[in-house]
Amino acid sequence: MKVTDPIIINRTGVKNRLTMAPTVKFDYAGADGKVTEKHIEHYRERAMHGCGLICVEATAVTPDGRFCKTHLGLWEDGQIEGHRAITSACHDHQATVLIQLNHTGIQANPECGTAIGPSAVSIGDPERLSREMHIDEIHRMQEHFTEAAFRAKQAGYDGIQLHGCHGYLINQFISRKTNLRTDEYGGSTENRARFASEIIHMIRERCGEDFIISVRTAGIEPDVATAMDIAEEYVKAGCDYLQVSTGIEWDDPTVGENGEPYNPICSLGIRFHEHFKGRVPVSCVNGILEPALAKYLIENDLVDTVDLGRALLADPAFSEAVFSDAPYTKCFNCPRCQYGPGMPHRCPAEAKRN
Ligand SMILES: Cc1cc2nc3c(=O)[nH]c(=O)nc-3n(C[C@H](O)[C@H](O)[C@H](O)COP(=O)(O)O)c2cc1C
Repeated sequence: MKVTDPIIINRTGVKNRLTMAPTVKFDYAGADGKVTEKHIEHYRERAMHGCGLICVEATAVTPDGRFCKTHLGLWEDGQIEGHRAITSACHDHQATVLIQLNHTGIQANPECGTAIGPSAVSIGDPERLSREMHIDEIHRMQEHFTEAAFRAKQAGYDGIQLHGCHGYLINQFISRKTNLRTDEYGGSTENRARFASEIIHMIRERCGEDFIISVRTAGIEPDVATAMDIAEEYVKAGCDYLQVSTGIEWDDPTVGENGEPYNPICSLGIRFHEHFKGRVPVSCVNGILEPALAKYLIENDLVDTVDLGRALLADPAFSEAVFSDAPYTKCFNCPRCQYGPGMPHRCPAEAKRN
């Protein structure tokens, strides 16, 4: 297998094995959550340099589920047009394009809304608890995800990715630490996966058979075996593609540094690939900052696709470095692209390139 080999996801041909991981541009949107020219150019540039699949950053399905007030949205029809410009820009360069749909849940930014989640649990300070969602709120939230997916389809996206990791709402339903429910959305693996599995069914019904439904899932929650059981539920519900990252709880002695050229988070995707081989394509992510590692993962059949986050932030032409050993600007592995006080920060690698 080579990085330049195409792959079929659901019924869509993706031209190669390099995928752009969702990475929020915190300062690009305004309070209306609409796409700006900066977003369009950001994604166009990465598509132009050959990335096979672009997953547009976490996008809020309701205004209260945003990370911050400058977070991209798809909660109303007026936001569709801007997204159409992103999909056209990517399709002009034959890149497949998905969009990640998200709600922050108990991690709500107080400037945007109340912390809600599967259960009332502490949100940092023990005095502050999230509010447990009523069953009708759960159903309404599933509709918000489905409506956002339908808007994504209208905007020309080839599919969506549910944000099911990194401690946000879907992940909060999966984790026993944040989901203490005793109804059909809590308890067993099947019940904890139900919130997302039902969303997958609803999106499939609304957006059709050809629409790619991917889940970015926690590869460990709290252990790899349980995380795989959860992903099995997603696949049963109709998920076409698994992109594997981290979750809330990490309690598994089988995961750690083991002398491999990739890190433990990346190893989760590799283990999922082994488990789901021949059924759904699997992507790994984290710490793939050098072309040689991207090639190693594909050429040794360790995963189906490799997700690139910071490598593509630091250099939009990183894909060309993977394909043809072109020179590139390496990510400095510093935290300056992350959300934090004093935003917006500027990626120093990007600054050096310009
Ligand atoms: C600036 C920034 C924004 C991010 N935004 C998202 C996001 O929207 N959704 C998501 O699932 N992960 C997000 N992540 C995590 C990345 O997708 C990726 O998993 C992480 O950066 C590790 O991969 P890397 O080593 O290739 O960067 C973000 C990471 C960074 C650095």
